[in-house]
Amino acid sequence: MKLAGRVKSLSSSPTLQITNKAKQLKKSGVDVVSFGAGEPDFDTPQYIKDAAVCALQQGMTKYTPSTGTAALKEAIIGKLERDNLLHYRPEQIVVSCGAKHALYSIFQVLCERGDEVIIPAPYWVSYPEMVKVAEATPVFVGTGEKDGFKITPKKLQAALTKKTKAVIINSPSNPTGAVYTKEELLEIARIAAKEDIFVISDEIYEKLIYGDARHYSIAGLDKEVYKRTFTVNGLSKAYSMTGWRIGYLAGPKEPVEKISNLQDHSTSCPNSIAQAAAVTALEGPDDFVNKMRDEFLKRRDYLVERISNMKNMSVFCPQGAFYAFSNISRVGLDSVTFAARLLDEARVAVVPGVGFGDDKYIRLSFATSMEQITKGLDRIEEWVRKL
Ligand SMILES: Cc1ncc(COP(=O)(O)O)c(C=O)c1O
Repeated sequence: MKLAGRVKSLSSSPTLQITNKAKQLKKSGVDVVSFGAGEPDFDTPQYIKDAAVCALQQGMTKYTPSTGTAALKEAIIGKLERDNLLHYRPEQIVVSCGAKHALYSIFQVLCERGDEVIIPAPYWVSYPEMVKVAEATPVFVGTGEKDGFKITPKKLQAALTKKTKAVIINSPSNPTGAVYTKEELLEIARIAAKEDIFVISDEIYEKLIYGDARHYSIAGLDKEVYKRTFTVNGLSKAYSMTGWRIGYLAGPKEPVEKISNLQDHSTSCPNSIAQAAAVTALEGPDDFVNKMRDEFLKRRDYLVERISNMKNMSVFCPQGAFYAFSNISRVGLDSVTFAARLLDEARVAVVPGVGFGDDKYIRLSFATSMEQITKGLDRIEEWVRKL
């Protein structure tokens, strides 16, 4: 069977692979501890669920405008003004089926064959695949613990070519939890404006930030970069609404218009009931996310402390999101072998770093209970000690 060339090298998500395998094992009665989760282990708050029930009862069960209801766009505009000091008009906003869908549409509209997109590595697994489906070329720029897993202006400048279309900035980052400072973002903004490239700013973990770190939206730091930036966010992580599939983008009018046309012909609109619930979420208080963040912080501190004391293991202390990126290079196994053996021999699921662009690491999600974290870390400690 001859399939389209552009999907030939498309791979499945390694994050989903390992979590699915762990789920299957659990289902068959095996006591597996999973550090694979890419979603908060909290239920969606009741008042948001109630809003969905109310929308359902009021008959909000039909197509909405393809880029989202007027009410949700207003709520998003209000959120971006309040939290991010960003000013957008409704025609600059597209509500989509999750932030993932928003990102997918951006690459479809911006990129074509011959274009390059700069992706700081380690990266979220879907970026390179989305770029490739848009027939563009991902250009990876390696970062390490020494530079806090962040692309430096020098490295960005060195990666630029005439073909560069865009750079992706993901702060807080999945998988490392790195958070860019205002000064670091300003430098990137200046380069993007000078070189006339787009910035795709994935801010989905914005509300999950620890300690002194603060979130800044790059689009708000410089007038020139605002014109070239797509700010991407969504409800999945902050409100524990991963299954509701509501994300959004805000950006320059002309490409956003094309994304809107693309959405007309691909999804028609995001789910109407979920959109109504999203208005309630965005206009409501931050109490839920603050409580969740406090819990994640406790888990992060515990996990970092434990791994730092394990034989041949170390970990980068994440400033945001709910993942810890742990260096396994001294163990002497590549990340896939490490993860496969750990699952088989100690019944603990972690995600191999190779899928994120660094084979010397594994990713552990702390979006699971303290009890599971303790049990899983006990098992890892014992397993690495015996290796
Ligand atoms: C960095 C990053 N961006 C985007 C997404 C997509 O989120 P959504 O559920 O809104 O599609 C994820 C989900 O794991 C993510 O980790």
